[in-house]
Amino acid sequence: MSGTATTGGGSVTITLDGSNKSASLPMVHGTIGPSVFDIRKLYDQLGVFTYDPGYGGTAACDSKITYIDGDAGVLLHRGYPIEQLAEKSTFLEVAHLLLNGDLPNAKQKHEFEMGVMRHTMLHEQLRRFYDGFRRDAHPMAVMCGVVGALSAFYHDALDINDPEVRRISAFRLIAKMPTIAAWAYKYAIGQPFIYPRNDLGYAENFLYMMNAVPAEPYHVNPVLARAMDRIFILHADHEQNASTSTVRLAGSTGANPFACIAAGIASLWGPAHGGANEAVLKMLAEIGHVDNIPAFLAAVKDKNSHIRLMGFGHRVYKNYDPRAKIMQQSCHEVLQELGIKDDPLLDLAVELEKIALHDEYFVSRKLYPNVDFYSGIILKAMGFPTSMFTVLFAVARTVGWISQWKEMIEDPSQRIGRPRQVYTGPTQRDYVPLDQRR
Ligand code: ACO
Repeated sequence: MSGTATTGGGSVTITLDGSNKSASLPMVHGTIGPSVFDIRKLYDQLGVFTYDPGYGGTAACDSKITYIDGDAGVLLHRGYPIEQLAEKSTFLEVAHLLLNGDLPNAKQKHEFEMGVMRHTMLHEQLRRFYDGFRRDAHPMAVMCGVVGALSAFYHDALDINDPEVRRISAFRLIAKMPTIAAWAYKYAIGQPFIYPRNDLGYAENFLYMMNAVPAEPYHVNPVLARAMDRIFILHADHEQNASTSTVRLAGSTGANPFACIAAGIASLWGPAHGGANEAVLKMLAEIGHVDNIPAFLAAVKDKNSHIRLMGFGHRVYKNYDPRAKIMQQSCHEVLQELGIKDDPLLDLAVELEKIALHDEYFVSRKLYPNVDFYSGIILKAMGFPTSMFTVLFAVARTVGWISQWKEMIEDPSQRIGRPRQVYTGPTQRDYVPLDQRR
């Protein structure tokens, strides 16, 4: 079932203490999930606005794309549970679902796949862009730069009000991200860029561009291609997270989609968001041995240490992240396929999870493993350097970003995003000449 956020189901009355002023604010109801009350008229009616750093209590838009019930550990894309999509679907099918609202029929699937795979190449001039980076540049820095530079190659994308432009821009972004990412890797290791092959599947083509060299044939392991595709599905969208909100905020100004996605990539880079799986591996390496887990957890619990158990906790999930369960299962499958019988990092992660899930500190704060806890172990086993982990996340999340951007542009109630603030700086004062300052 789908629908539009509706008012007409009650209201909330807010009365200012010590005054006879009150405001009646309409309730807004989605198809599932908690209702909200609409504060847009609050300032006009009462002369006050709301305070919500981190936006934990604020809905910034209505959306039909993704639903999360953090307490129950539920994630739905357009109504479909992530578990079913991860098991039965493909990344491009999920991309169609997120962008267009439903799973494609056979004809739509073929057209969509053709549409994406025909845009995988980069402009040759863009190839030269890489030479401007140091070889040791972090690939996320390269991603921010190259994706932002796409705007310079597609001037037609500046007309965001044309639905056809939006459609082609989505194809271009979804199609070119794997090429841009694989080339960022090839550039770092000094190997020739490998051009995309449109006869391969989306994830398969990505692994091909990452691992092939011109000197010899390269065949992508189908088990690894499937695992990669599943990792892409698990990261495709996650409603109004930090990077998606960044894309929406940038897009609310009318900025072109390439610039908006570049902004999303920058936001994803941080260790509290997409950088967490890289941080998990670093943390596991630092812990080093199962015997060191108690000392590490003691440090995590010490507020002054500022150490966090990376891959644990989530702003929305107060239960097991459903993606983490699938990732854990995928992790075992990939290690088995690669013939890795005993991976000390996996053993350490499993033990760390077990201990943390029974520790009062984590239990009372409802801190559970998130999607990043196991993804780093799989990606490492597949041969990706840690610096590429967040890049892979960006490749997958591009689908969610562009779907959310498109939904926002097509929403008639959309206006520029512009939060307010509580000013706590100095009150007005007069300029002091330099010779009179102390
Ligand atoms: N390790 C230790 N303590 C934690 C952790 C953690 N990973 N996460 C939260 N806490 C504690 C906080 O210290 C706080 O404790 P307090 O109430 O005693 O002060 C309490 O749990 C609530 O934490 P907040 O920081 O308020 O939670 P918030 O929703 O702001 O943060 C976040 C969510 C950023 C994901 C946090 O849990 C974290 O830093 N986790 C580790 C990084 C990580 O794995 N990020 C990936 C997120 S998933 C993704 O982006 C794909």
